[in-house]
Amino acid sequence: MAKVIVDSEYLKDVEKARRELRALISIKNCAPIMLRLAWHDAGTYDVNTKTGGPNGSIRNEEEYAHGANSGLKIALDFCEQVKSKCPKITYADLYQLAGVVAVEVTGGPAINFVPGRKDSKISPKEGRLPDAKKGVPHLKEVFYRMGLSDKDIVALSGGHTLGRAHPERSGFDGPWTAEPLKFDNSYFVELLKGESEGLLKLPTDVALLDDPEFRRYVELYAKDEEAFFKDYAESHKKLSELGFTPT
Ligand code: HEM
Repeated sequence: MAKVIVDSEYLKDVEKARRELRALISIKNCAPIMLRLAWHDAGTYDVNTKTGGPNGSIRNEEEYAHGANSGLKIALDFCEQVKSKCPKITYADLYQLAGVVAVEVTGGPAINFVPGRKDSKISPKEGRLPDAKKGVPHLKEVFYRMGLSDKDIVALSGGHTLGRAHPERSGFDGPWTAEPLKFDNSYFVELLKGESEGLLKLPTDVALLDDPEFRRYVELYAKDEEAFFKDYAESHKKLSELGFTPT
């Protein structure tokens, strides 16, 4: 696809899409799955080959059919409703905007959104997203491949303050926190508390306690929500812009 021209007409569509997303997310209560969609489109990035990333390719059936993306067709269809009202915005921008709005409307930090991402029809091979059953070395390998740091891994894992796992999608079950529609630092508080009846901890969540570099951020974010919000907003922006150079 040709370069995206971010002119005043494009920016108008972006602002309309932002309003439509706010309304849709509150009507459908779908902030968690919209955030997961944004992350799964972006999280395929490979810094060495400069492939994957937030390029809208998750809309291709071959990609949303990957095991890790189970359930995300629901979020793709919600975004399609917005796209039909705001046809200029690229899918790549729309999915990342959905992630930013999801965090904002649930009480999380404001995340600076820069438009202009190009759409791609090329999907990466299956297997670039993290496997929830694995531990520290796997988490580092996958996120370093994206070009992200230990701090980014912990801050972004705080995205699990929203939503829940569904047995029919991932085989896991339950929310991470008592209020899964509120974006706050409770994910880290619960992680340090250990097992709680009815709350979920994936092996990759528990792994954040095993590595000293990870653990120091878990402890910081559990006691200082402001520090979490500041770092989360930075890491989320980085994730949403992997491989993207604003024009
Ligand atoms: C849900 C794995 C990182 C946001 C899930 C689920 C799994 C998972 C297994 C349950 C899916 C389901 O059954 O519906 C992982 C692993 C990660 C990771 C292994 C590696 C660190 C992230 C990041 C974000 C994120 C970085 C966002 C910044 C979410 C959200 C949900 C979710 C919001 C809830 C979706 C819903 O309620 O439908 N994740 N995740 N995750 N993930 Fe992650």
